[in-house]
Amino acid sequence: MINDLWYKNAVIYCLSVETFQDSNGDGVGDFPGLMRRLDYLHGMGIDAIWLMPFQASPGKDDGYDISNYYDIDPRFGTLGDFVEFTHAAKQRGIRVLIDIVVNHTSDQHPWFQSARSDPNSPYRDWYVWSKTKPKDADQGMVFPGVQESTWTLDEKAGEYYFHRFYKFQPDLNTANPEVQAEILKIMGFWIQLGVNGFRMDAVPFVIADKGADEQKPQQQYDLLRWFRAFLQWRKGDAVILAEANVPPKQNLQYFGDDGDRMHMMFNFQVNQTLFYALASADTKPLIKALDETRARPDTAQWGTFLRNHDELDLGRLTEAQRKLVFDHFGPDPDMQLYERGIRRRLAPMLGGDRRRLELAYSLMLSMPGTPVLRYGDEIGMGDDLSLPERNGARTPMQWSDEPQGGFSRSDKTVLPVISEGPYGFAHVNVASQRRDPNSFLNWTERMIRMRREAPEIGWGAYAVVETGEKGVLAMRYDWRNNSVLLLHNLCDYPHKIALDLKMGEIGLRLIDIADGGHSQAEDDGRHHILLEPYGYRWYRVGGLDYILRRTEI
Ligand code: NOJ
Repeated sequence: MINDLWYKNAVIYCLSVETFQDSNGDGVGDFPGLMRRLDYLHGMGIDAIWLMPFQASPGKDDGYDISNYYDIDPRFGTLGDFVEFTHAAKQRGIRVLIDIVVNHTSDQHPWFQSARSDPNSPYRDWYVWSKTKPKDADQGMVFPGVQESTWTLDEKAGEYYFHRFYKFQPDLNTANPEVQAEILKIMGFWIQLGVNGFRMDAVPFVIADKGADEQKPQQQYDLLRWFRAFLQWRKGDAVILAEANVPPKQNLQYFGDDGDRMHMMFNFQVNQTLFYALASADTKPLIKALDETRARPDTAQWGTFLRNHDELDLGRLTEAQRKLVFDHFGPDPDMQLYERGIRRRLAPMLGGDRRRLELAYSLMLSMPGTPVLRYGDEIGMGDDLSLPERNGARTPMQWSDEPQGGFSRSDKTVLPVISEGPYGFAHVNVASQRRDPNSFLNWTERMIRMRREAPEIGWGAYAVVETGEKGVLAMRYDWRNNSVLLLHNLCDYPHKIALDLKMGEIGLRLIDIADGGHSQAEDDGRHHILLEPYGYRWYRVGGLDYILRRTEI
């Protein structure tokens, strides 16, 4: 195995430039501002930043509607600022991943403008057209309730165009070799400017057959191999992290049997069942999801996460499971979105309960894969549900108790800073949590350190250890003659569990990595451990000489 695969044991932090730090007082975050905050991110111990789209865009889907792939939105600075930023990140050992949104463009993109204006335009075939309204035009909407159709008549073209997402996001005809070549060109451009890879948006749609006659569109997985081969040729340590919310059976197609397609994928199955586990204190569906997503090539990696910039999508749960999660974490219809998800931030979903927040984070950090954190969650930021759709969980970062939470000097910011209630910036901000050794921010920092020092989780193999309690999850990871054991009690009451590690002599001793509550097996060879309500433990199996016992292969 190649030791250099940095993404196998890393912590990724995602943020939007727009809402992170405004440096010039126009109320919009920008690259110079983000650059000034790099030391904050460096101090937190993160390995890579994932940036939401920042290219030129009319901004109707928060940048996921790009009108020029080769320039940045002037509100965020210049290409020069961008390169300064990637350089400054590199100096701190932080890698930069950026969103690549090539399933569709903005309808304002010159390619689409040309395509619609002239049937002989060289760009006509870059999009997907139909002379008549396809029969399935009112099916397959990604944003039900908001989006009305997947085919819209363009008056100028006199034809219908296909759009998997909103109607201002016409789909690119990704089967067209010219479009494919352009996608590689876009990747090459940003690689040249210092990025280390991409979070690829909407991958199943990028590679799907598109057209009015497609009854059962197939995925063209070979495209993924080409993307990867190109990337690896241009920059050896660059990666693609795929957004592909597909059933577990299809995952391997995205990684490729030989690990020759996507390096990483978000694990949506584990994400949804993890929230179900938090709501129900029943770990069984989570264990099943772990099992279903266990198989992957050695070089591939899961991205594990709690919340992201979209709604918490619960579409893969059963109806009863989804209802239970809604009841617990998003009971009000206004908290729900697209008939499948919850549009809140993590802290309000968990009632701001510190024990539950720690449990959720500890659990997520101990899932097989590489954790992806969302900006603001490290301080327990809240949401603003008066904002439309997903914007409620996209408010500016809260740095201090100064005006606009220290985000901007402007009176008006791109989205309002949360200023009222328990999640207002006066109460929830980085500066005050920095001063408090027991704050959530400092807890998160310690957890990140602990997670990074447990490469067993990123690289190793895991087994669920039987506890006899469906409300308790015990997982053991093994890698290079080292093991860690992670326990989580999802119940609001304590559990005393008995564990037989079946590892012989070495398994009789557990060293608590976080707080010194070690465990020695009793005469029956089992560990008897009391877990408090929502309690969790991270143990090293054996002694602290594990580093000396670690093998090279
Ligand atoms: C997935 C992104 O995460 C979401 O924010 C966006 O609206 C759609 N793709 C369309 O690009």
